[in-house]
Amino acid sequence: MSPTHPAIDLAVIGGTGVYALAELADVETVATATRYGAPSGPIRIGTLAGHRVAFLARHGEGHSVPPHRINYRANLAALQQAGAARVLALNTVGGIDAAYAPRALGCPDQLIDYTWGRVSTLCEGDVDDGGGNAVLHVDFGDPYTPSLRAQLLAAARGAGVALVDGGCYGATQGPRLETKAEILRMRRDGCDLVGMTGMPEAGLARELGLEYACLAIVANWAAGAGPDPDEVITLDEVLANVAAASAGVSRLLAALLAG
Ligand code: HPA
Repeated sequence: MSPTHPAIDLAVIGGTGVYALAELADVETVATATRYGAPSGPIRIGTLAGHRVAFLARHGEGHSVPPHRINYRANLAALQQAGAARVLALNTVGGIDAAYAPRALGCPDQLIDYTWGRVSTLCEGDVDDGGGNAVLHVDFGDPYTPSLRAQLLAAARGAGVALVDGGCYGATQGPRLETKAEILRMRRDGCDLVGMTGMPEAGLARELGLEYACLAIVANWAAGAGPDPDEVITLDEVLANVAAASAGVSRLLAALLAG
């Protein structure tokens, strides 16, 4: 899959509450048809901290696409066609482990996939990939690209932004939130944070040969995981905590690009 646009330094995929990069300057919008269909919305390419950056809102800029209906293949293929080789996925999540309290930022190093029924591989035989639809068995022991994780962690240290190093992301089906029992099971499984969009995105990125890391933004305690086990999770709380964390995300992005 050869890029049809000049290379860009970083692609950023925004999750719930992140529908644009405010600091992106000289923004142009590129055409985004892919062999897998249409991505969630337009790709905005511009300049950030002196570097070319592409941005895509995972749920669409008006948050119209639920997690299980996202065309993850098209989203990643569109970014790759735009010239991206490395992708930073912003994922809005619930915290399970105490380190992942609301408003924390984290960089998980593992994941467990609890999703089902999603198109989770390029190897569906539904699209002519020009390579005979070869079956791919990509290594996925470390689901996030270690070098990109290391760059992000170094950027956080340099910029003085608190970033939790490591943790296991549990990807759930959604769009409903989890039961307390589901979160207890996930805790027993070793999950530290929970979100609905981490997979199949990470696996597809690996199949496409993209560098890929997750910057998790903790929006709430997962069901029953916080100090008040009966707290009800609201969208207002989620959006307020993502907004509160956004200054740290911006500083981190600038430091990552500068590094
Ligand atoms: N669970 C799943 N996905 C989420 C959550 C949650 O608690 N918060 C934000 N995204």
